Amino acid sequence: ITIRQATINDIQAMQNANLHNLPENYQLKYYMYHILSWPQASFVATTYDDIVKANDEEIDAEAAEDPKGDTAYINKGEKIVGYVLGKMEDDPEAQDKTPHGHITSLSVMRTYRRMGLAEKLMRQSLFAMCESFDAKYVSLHVRKSNRAALHLYRDSLQFEVQSIEKSYYQDGEDAYAMKLELNLDD
Ligand code: ACO
Repeated sequence: ITIRQATINDIQAMQNANLHNLPENYQLKYYMYHILSWPQASFVATTYDDIVKANDEEIDAEAAEDPKGDTAYINKGEKIVGYVLGKMEDDPEAQDKTPHGHITSLSVMRTYRRMGLAEKLMRQSLFAMCESFDAKYVSLHVRKSNRAALHLYRDSLQFEVQSIEKSYYQDGEDAYAMKLELNLDD
């Protein structure tokens, strides 16, 4: 599994992964906005289907039916198993003018969880926000009930809970607003 910067070519697959993993979804143009505005801040974890596919003959059979090889290409193509979508705060109304980043969305496909991918994706994005955009801290929101994500942010990455935002989510659930001070010397 490879972790690399996300590109415009990845946004459809990132949106698909997001729809699969989270109830908070975004239009494709919002993904595009992230990638075009802060290309260094978003990452994908990718693998190749042929490595995980139990039966390579299946791929060959599909290829035989498709002499141009399009099917085989798609089946043997790179697929996205996780992503982090990051941005810099650019709301002119924002109270805090200190340059800071924001994690819009993070998810890892179910079969690829508990392998450290989310932590790696997050660390890459945090480092890039600091390096490329001089972010002094990074913020994010997480559901109070999301134990896995809370563990990741609080215990693995040392984010701190800043406040509770009541009914932040559409279904009425509260969010923890979390923050991590960035210091490259750490
Ligand atoms: N229960 C408890 N702790 C967990 C769990 C879990 N189910 N899953 C991961 N962790 C802990 C791990 O133990 C690890 O800490 P440790 O290694 O020090 O023990 C730490 O979190 C990081 O684990 P990773 O393997 O890097 O996390 P993973 O790749 O499995 O992804 C994620 C975690 C992104 C939360 C995944 O479960 C997921 O996609 N969930 C659904 C989508 C989601 O909730 N996304 C976050 C929403 S908030 C936002 O987007 C800003």
